[in-house]
Amino acid sequence: MSAVLEGIGKAVPPRVVTNAELAQTLDTTDEWVRTRTGIAQRYVAERGSGTADLAVEAGANALKSAGGSDVDAVVLATTTPDRIVPSTAPEVAARLGLGTIAAFDVNAVCAGFVYALATAAGLLATGVADRVLVIGAEVMTRITDPTDRGTAVLFGDGAGAVVLRRGDADEPGAIGPFDLGSDGDRADLLAIPAGGSRRPVDATALAERANYLFMDGKEVYRQAVTRMVASSRKVLDRAGWTIEDVDRLVGHQANARILSAVADRLGVPEDRRVSNVARYGNTSAASIPLALADAGLRPGERLLLTAFGAGMSWGSTLMTWPEITAA
Ligand code: UT7
Repeated sequence: MSAVLEGIGKAVPPRVVTNAELAQTLDTTDEWVRTRTGIAQRYVAERGSGTADLAVEAGANALKSAGGSDVDAVVLATTTPDRIVPSTAPEVAARLGLGTIAAFDVNAVCAGFVYALATAAGLLATGVADRVLVIGAEVMTRITDPTDRGTAVLFGDGAGAVVLRRGDADEPGAIGPFDLGSDGDRADLLAIPAGGSRRPVDATALAERANYLFMDGKEVYRQAVTRMVASSRKVLDRAGWTIEDVDRLVGHQANARILSAVADRLGVPEDRRVSNVARYGNTSAASIPLALADAGLRPGERLLLTAFGAGMSWGSTLMTWPEITAA
């Protein structure tokens, strides 16, 4: 038994913010951002909108692509839920007209979508669900400090979603095996210091801007390359694949240099690398499904998916692209 992909959709907010626009208020330049990150622009959600809005739109598109709304669970990967309580997935399920089905959020930050795929595969394997809508949706610009040039240029907003059903491991669309991992000793390298149970937001936290994302960029960069390479090798070994079996590498879209370093170390040639970071920036849990939706993948292509983010958390999986049309 395997989880099999049968539909994919995406959504982005209407507003595009270019590097040049950010440079009007930040001490940065289009040239710095392009050469250090490969990012040219990002989509930014309007004030008053939230992750659920993007998740509903991407989810509806995925259901359309799958040809129906007969799902019995929603798993939403997000770092930026609309509210801390409740999780955002139940509202998304209700707004999609899916009724009172199982619905919950998964937070593994930028690795969230791979974690959510594995979670959905578990729901299918145990018979809890027959068909699952898996969404990665983020409004990262809401938790990014607009005055911090080290992070404000990196992140963007968006959503991608897939429909999974129970099927066989050898059919097109089959996902797996998985490799998932974490390193909580390095949790502080990329974190929002205040706003959780340990340190609620108060006047001091606001003055320190501790309600925003903090990142040790250099160390996160190093960890990202090391962990995605190791995790990719593990999942290839587990499946009995070599890197030559991989037609397209779909890595988490954080930074073009990270993607190149991972691909170089794994030995994936340039024409087999999927990258859309120039257009979206880092959309965290939305990045892999957005990349899958945009890549123009052909049926039968074999994919290696690998992601890394705060936690630290990482995950990789393999799949063969089915005959579907993105919506
Ligand atoms: O999804 C997973 C989470 N995130 C990531 O994967 C991101 C991981 N890290 C990175 O992508 C990179 O570390 C960054 C893009 C964040 C930074 O690139 P870098 O090549 O590591 O630059 P740096 O931090 O070493 O900074 C180089 C210089 C510094 O100036 P000095 O100290 O050399 O004078 C920074 O202050 O660039 C400066 N700088 C900037 N300059 C213009 C940092 N941010 C900016 C900026 N514009 N936006």
